[in-house]
Amino acid sequence: MERLPTRTCHSRITGMGSAVPEQVLTNHDLELLVDTSDEWITGRTGIKERRMCKKGERLSDYCVKACRRALEDAQVEAGEIDAILIGTISGDYRFPATSIFVQSELRAMNAFALDISATCSGWLYALFHADALIAAGRVRKALVVGAEMLTSITDWSDRSTCVLFGDAAAAAVVEASDGHEGVLSVHIGSNGDLAHLLYCKGGGNGKYLTEESIRKGEHYLRMSGNDVFKHAVRTMYRASVKAIELAHMEIDEIDWLIPHQANIRIMEATAERLRIPRERVFINIDKYGNTSAASVPLAIDEARRTGKLKPGQTVLTVVFGGGFTWGSAVIRF
Ligand SMILES: CC(C)(COP(=O)(O)OP(=O)(O)OC[C@H]1O[C@@H](n2cnc3c(N)ncnc32)[C@H](O)[C@@H]1OP(=O)(O)O)[C@@H](O)C(=O)NCCC(=O)NCCS
Repeated sequence: MERLPTRTCHSRITGMGSAVPEQVLTNHDLELLVDTSDEWITGRTGIKERRMCKKGERLSDYCVKACRRALEDAQVEAGEIDAILIGTISGDYRFPATSIFVQSELRAMNAFALDISATCSGWLYALFHADALIAAGRVRKALVVGAEMLTSITDWSDRSTCVLFGDAAAAAVVEASDGHEGVLSVHIGSNGDLAHLLYCKGGGNGKYLTEESIRKGEHYLRMSGNDVFKHAVRTMYRASVKAIELAHMEIDEIDWLIPHQANIRIMEATAERLRIPRERVFINIDKYGNTSAASVPLAIDEARRTGKLKPGQTVLTVVFGGGFTWGSAVIRF
């Protein structure tokens, strides 16, 4: 079993908050756009509806709302924050980073601001780095955000992807803690050999935006759904086992599995392989779809706010995403 190096201190989540657009897009709305049905979408994915930003809204606006709620929950002032880490692939601009606008709006002027590009794994990548910076004594308080507006790169004529995604932002205040509680383990990984399964090429300098590239829809997200599905189940299982090992725990010490809300069948298959009963799996994909980097913190925040996840309980969370990337953590609340 891998041993973690000696740490000066640990990290814990002291507050959370989230923000979703008001506009709801139901499966019935999608039936008017593409050849699909509520029955197909619900049966294959578990999604009933998702939230969608209006034109002109910016991702940073949602990040700011989520961060304000998290700061209030943690009773921390913006000026106390040392780092703002945002996992996202759908920020306001190509540069500067979305976290820069969030810093300015929050007046968190003692922080540094950084975006992390790790697709759906973005929040756990951000948590990994916040935890490491806290362990090294370089940061005491961080805002760790997962936020995405994937509807802005969705091809609304592609029924195999447009039914899946929704927009959201969710944030956690992560603070240094002297006791060994809070983040008991956090693990991330990637496999660049699988980059071709899920990508958005257009707009980068490997694929400049031209009239032709736009006509071909190269600025939209593309995915081999079946292949992603197979890798996802395998990856979610392995990453879960790794996080439990690193926390020196057993699976039956886990109170809640809160997995990436990508597809109900992927979540059920992962829970089954881990032998975690369905009543200990938190699911909100029906309301929000796959919100990518926001999915895990949005679900954890809802589990806390609805009182399902109680203080002192332990969560196993696990995510996978394009790249391929993955992440997992065991967190005591
Ligand atoms: C996308 C996904 C829901 C598709 O489900 P699936 O059971 O694999 O379905 P398939 O891709 O095999 O397609 C089966 C049929 O349904 C059709 N179909 C695809 N999307 C459809 C839709 N929205 N409505 C109706 N039919 C649809 C396909 O065209 C195909 O028809 P055909 O057999 O006539 O060719 C599933 O593969 C998935 O969830 N993959 C993982 C995606 C994911 O998690 N991505 C995010 C990564 S973070």
